[in-house]
Amino acid sequence: MPEKDLNPLFLDTLKDIYYAEKQIYKSLPKMAKAAQSDQLRAAFEKHHDETEGHIDRLEQIFELLGKPARGKKCDAIEGILDEGKEVMDEYEDTPALDAGLLAAAQAVEHYEISRYGTLKAWADKLSMKEAVGLLDQTLAEEKKTDETLTKIAVSAVNAEAA
Ligand SMILES: [Fe+2]
Ligand SMILES: [Fe+2]
Repeated sequence: MPEKDLNPLFLDTLKDIYYAEKQIYKSLPKMAKAAQSDQLRAAFEKHHDETEGHIDRLEQIFELLGKPARGKKCDAIEGILDEGKEVMDEYEDTPALDAGLLAAAQAVEHYEISRYGTLKAWADKLSMKEAVGLLDQTLAEEKKTDETLTKIAVSAVNAEAA
């Protein structure tokens, strides 16, 4: 793909994830409040702080591009977060609530991992070294969060089985 085609696509996708991160930032405190397990609540609170950093790194990339930091409505994240809200409503005060929250949160992380993986590859192709570094830092935190959520899910399942 010629670079002139990849540049607008990179910017568009950056706007998509910028919008998504802001929605995620708003949702995480609600998920933390809903969580029954202390471990899960702590994971959501920690990731809320990290998400602030993700937004900041994206703003740095907009600056590198000389473009204003602006989001573009992302239907995918709206859908994923709506499902999370549904779980919170429908499974409130039930033993399945945390399992539902975990599943919803992992869907969010997988979306982010997919987006950041793509953006990092495109930034590399566009020889945007600084952006590659910033995207890689966030990608590592998203992956780590996903792993933490998997561990919490597995230990909860084990505890229930015992
Ligand atoms: Fe993020
Ligand atoms: Fe995340």
